[in-house]
Amino acid sequence: MARTSKSDRNKTIDFSLEEGQEYFDRCITDEKDLPLNTIMNKTINGDTFKIMEKLPKKFVDLLIVDPPYNLSKDYNGSKFKKTDDESYAKYTEQWLKLVAPLLKDEASVYICCDWKTSVVIGRVLPKYLNVRNRITWQREKGRGAKENWKNGLEDIWFATNSGRWTFNLEDVKVRKKVIAPYKEEGKPKDWQETEKGNFRDTCPSNFWDDCSIPYWSMPENTAHPTQKPEKLLAKMILASSNKGDVVFDPFLGSGSTSVTAKKLGRKFVGIELDKTYCAWTEKRLEMADTDDEIQGYTDGVFWERNTLGEQKKVKTNLSTKQMKEENYGQIAFATN
Ligand SMILES: C[S@@+](CC[C@H](N)C(=O)[O-])C[C@H]1O[C@@H](n2cnc3c(N)ncnc32)[C@H](O)[C@@H]1O
Repeated sequence: MARTSKSDRNKTIDFSLEEGQEYFDRCITDEKDLPLNTIMNKTINGDTFKIMEKLPKKFVDLLIVDPPYNLSKDYNGSKFKKTDDESYAKYTEQWLKLVAPLLKDEASVYICCDWKTSVVIGRVLPKYLNVRNRITWQREKGRGAKENWKNGLEDIWFATNSGRWTFNLEDVKVRKKVIAPYKEEGKPKDWQETEKGNFRDTCPSNFWDDCSIPYWSMPENTAHPTQKPEKLLAKMILASSNKGDVVFDPFLGSGSTSVTAKKLGRKFVGIELDKTYCAWTEKRLEMADTDDEIQGYTDGVFWERNTLGEQKKVKTNLSTKQMKEENYGQIAFATN
């Protein structure tokens, strides 16, 4: 039985553990022995603080961490309680100490935070890693505040384990529509003129304004309260790992890191405390066997928001005129 009744167009994954038992059974639950060949491309169910102690050293090429932020939050019955900054710093150090030995020398690290925890994590991080950048993700969601500015951002710390790391710039360029097409001697300057529109592939900055949070009509959406978009993870994974590398997420949630890694030809390992979230992860991993699409990442480039029409053009190989005839311009609600 589905937990809530929903419309046919609502693709949200939201089944109970009982319903998803066959998916949960694919996860690792035995914490005794966790060699590399046992954990590869797997979801491990359990407490990350106990499990990380048992993982092999130096197996991670790319670490993506989306820990509980310092907010009171209910993760399917398991509650994280807001605490003071000092205690949150200790909590952060506790998992950083455990994860540091798991990193390869040339590993890269991304850590997600809100603006308050960003300050705390930013203080602790340099003790363990080389901080390279702080990315700001424009995250549009939530009600407006009555006596304050509504929060519309999250931070992502980018760090490396040493002075050598992977950065695939060409793989993370952002495709933008050319608003004022400038030509020199009749030729486009720094942009492409194609039958399907005029575009410019631009170098990505540390301000990411092209990723929407998942919502009900997207196949990647689950009922997890703090799910990250696959497009956001795809940027980190494409920039900071190569095909066949191992991506590790010690607070896996609904599996977004593992699923995106799989879609992009990387190996993955994830740990999650909640059994139902583990089952949703496995369902998504199964879906990725037949559909490796990442919404907003089409034709090998990242597209700015509200360009789904243009992305379809590229995918279907239709010209602008044909697109108009086919009425693709009406695709307005999907924004990634
Ligand atoms: C911010 S969410 C991660 C969301 C994830 N990035 C996604 O896209 O779905 C943090 C997750 O960490 C899990 N968690 C919290 N404490 C944990 C622990 N000690 N061991 C394993 N997982 C834990 C929570 O259940 C929650 O799903």
